[in-house]
Amino acid sequence: MENRAQWGTRAGFILAAVGSAIGLGNIWRFPAVAYENGGGAFFIPYLFALLTAGIPLLVMEFTLGHKYRGSAPLSFFRMNKKTEWLGWWAVLVSFVISTYYAVIIAWAIRYSFFSINLSWGEDTESFLFNDFLQLTVTPGQTGNMVMGILIPLVIVWVITLGVLFAGVKKGIETANKIFIPTLVVLFLIIVIRAITLPGAAQGLQTFFAPDFSQIMNPSVWVAAYGQIFFSLSIAFAIMITYSSYLPKKSDITNNAFITGFSNSSFELLAGIGVFGALGFMAQQNGVGVEEVVSGGVGLAFVVFPQIINEFPALSGLFGFLFFMSLVLAGLSSLISISETYVAGIKEKFGLSRKAAVAAGGGLAAVISLLFATQGGLFFLDAADYFINQFGVAFVGLVEVVVIAWFVRKLGDFQNHANGVSDLHLGGWWKVCLGVITPIVLGIMMFQLFTKNLF
Ligand code: PHE
Ligand code: NA
Repeated sequence: MENRAQWGTRAGFILAAVGSAIGLGNIWRFPAVAYENGGGAFFIPYLFALLTAGIPLLVMEFTLGHKYRGSAPLSFFRMNKKTEWLGWWAVLVSFVISTYYAVIIAWAIRYSFFSINLSWGEDTESFLFNDFLQLTVTPGQTGNMVMGILIPLVIVWVITLGVLFAGVKKGIETANKIFIPTLVVLFLIIVIRAITLPGAAQGLQTFFAPDFSQIMNPSVWVAAYGQIFFSLSIAFAIMITYSSYLPKKSDITNNAFITGFSNSSFELLAGIGVFGALGFMAQQNGVGVEEVVSGGVGLAFVVFPQIINEFPALSGLFGFLFFMSLVLAGLSSLISISETYVAGIKEKFGLSRKAAVAAGGGLAAVISLLFATQGGLFFLDAADYFINQFGVAFVGLVEVVVIAWFVRKLGDFQNHANGVSDLHLGGWWKVCLGVITPIVLGIMMFQLFTKNLF
């Protein structure tokens, strides 16, 4: 066996896994998804998905990486030669995501500087699309704002590839040990400020108001599973790769629970902060909270700048903190996605780590420059839609079905995890993965395909 790189400490691994999990999905995706799918009532399908699919799959992926000690393709290959493609599929999805995830982080870097002087002005929407992205400028006539995206994008890739260059312990572990605690502190400051703004209570009430009539709606369950998978970075090859660097004697099951609950706690915190701030904005404008709810790019780069404009004091500072937390949350996730293909090609082609970073990361960086151009926004939207609809849950479904029913390894995995972990997996774990998850995901996929085809 080769001398495999390893995490230096248990906390190092947990921080890296949590760092991958906590990302833009927690901050700008979860609050809007929860609100649109029943508010307080969404927690029922959400918790169901977390406990019966999210954490069990996390245990499965941790076991896969720990047992076979390889990148995702190599681990799948070692499990069964015929399943190597499954690893490459997940790696490919990660590669695509990394190319546009990097662009969003670059925007957030740029916006953290805009926030110092509130240079987005009053009309934050036209600032984003016209001044910043220049979607209305005729092609070829690009102004200096393009550099405003390119420079931060280059910074994003220099940091990410620099960290991967430095390796698992010196690079990834160290970066997360700095990024994640900093992120938590920054974010707590913002959330406390948000919920003490006038109108925040109304925002929280809107967020948590349960709409139980939605609970039997299948699309609410689709949303819950989609959120859990994306948010926990499951089925992206990430958790397999990260757990392959665990020392032989390492807890698996407990670590999966810690990762899952940390991610969900952060998500809940983000929901509270975002809706507190939205409640404030609604009050300032004399409208209902429903009218200002948004998610994604619109929430972060249009609505938040507006909210920050109206802050009673220290607007520039809070704007800076908000965008820096997007940057930190994003970078730790980007590092994890990029490590999947770095590790994949390194092991497949027998490259050194540095060569693999240069080749894989370099290619991703170059492609991501395309997203920084005018047409990029369109690709970004299309890629995001495609990945979320067909990528994540689909790979997850195939993964559990292959492991549970084709190679029939759940029993082996259970023994492996129980051999190293404090918490012992009972038969429920196999039921969740072998029966409940495939059924729910199968129905979900069927509905998605029929909805998209007809
Ligand atoms: N889990 C991250 C989030 O919640 C997103 C992500 C998905 C990161 C896939 C890497 C890979 O934002
Ligand atoms: Na997440």
